Amino acid sequence: MNIHVFEEQSQIDRVGALLVAAQVLRKPDSVLGFATGSTPLGIYRQMVEMYRGGLVDFSQCYTFNLDEYYGLAPDHEQSYAYYMWKNLFADLELDPEQVNLPDGLAENPEEECWEYEEKIADLDGIDFQILGIGRNGHIGFNEPGSVFEAHTHLVDLTADTRDANARFFDNPEEVPSQALSMGTGSIMRAREIVLIATGSEKADAVAAMVNGPVDPACQASILQCHPVVTILLDQAAAAKL
Ligand code: GLP
Repeated sequence: MNIHVFEEQSQIDRVGALLVAAQVLRKPDSVLGFATGSTPLGIYRQMVEMYRGGLVDFSQCYTFNLDEYYGLAPDHEQSYAYYMWKNLFADLELDPEQVNLPDGLAENPEEECWEYEEKIADLDGIDFQILGIGRNGHIGFNEPGSVFEAHTHLVDLTADTRDANARFFDNPEEVPSQALSMGTGSIMRAREIVLIATGSEKADAVAAMVNGPVDPACQASILQCHPVVTILLDQAAAAKL
């Protein structure tokens, strides 16, 4: 693991965007994996700046998102599809054909998950995956105890995860109880991974990921076994290392 600790959020945002840009400059038809949540928002803003400044062109890329709430339509304001179009894809002027997220309204979630894995495989896998981390160590929506080999699957969200994400909803009861998520096994097949964590509430999860045993209780700990992982932290998230 290649770990960098920064003083300012703005440094993480710029470095994260630089790493994405470097990937796309090296391989213009990169398959990029994206995460949602608050943490990557600054990176997405910097990517848009770079695109508008003519530094990098995403027109040949394909994207896959880690997860989507089960039961939310893509135009629901709390869906991850809505988040991605609002915060990144529209500003990068991506074609919907380039973009992939699990369908939160899929009638047959199991079939949807297998089709999602097939789409990733058809494009020869994910080249570069951005990850956040949940305060319980989850990556994507792979909750503690999930099998490390998991493919994309329907997940029952823990009370802690629903609580952590309730801030985005008007009423905590509206937080869906399930999600479709790439499995930890799917994430591990990405050729390169950049994980970002900021704030003191991530410090325990970051310590377990980096220094703890490789244990499904902290899903991110499996990243110790991945050959190309870069971790971008602020000092609060790195405090327990
Ligand atoms: C959600 C997402 C994860 C994300 C995590 C952390 O649970 N499924 O992909 O990493 O939240 O979010 P935040 O960056 O808002 O702390």
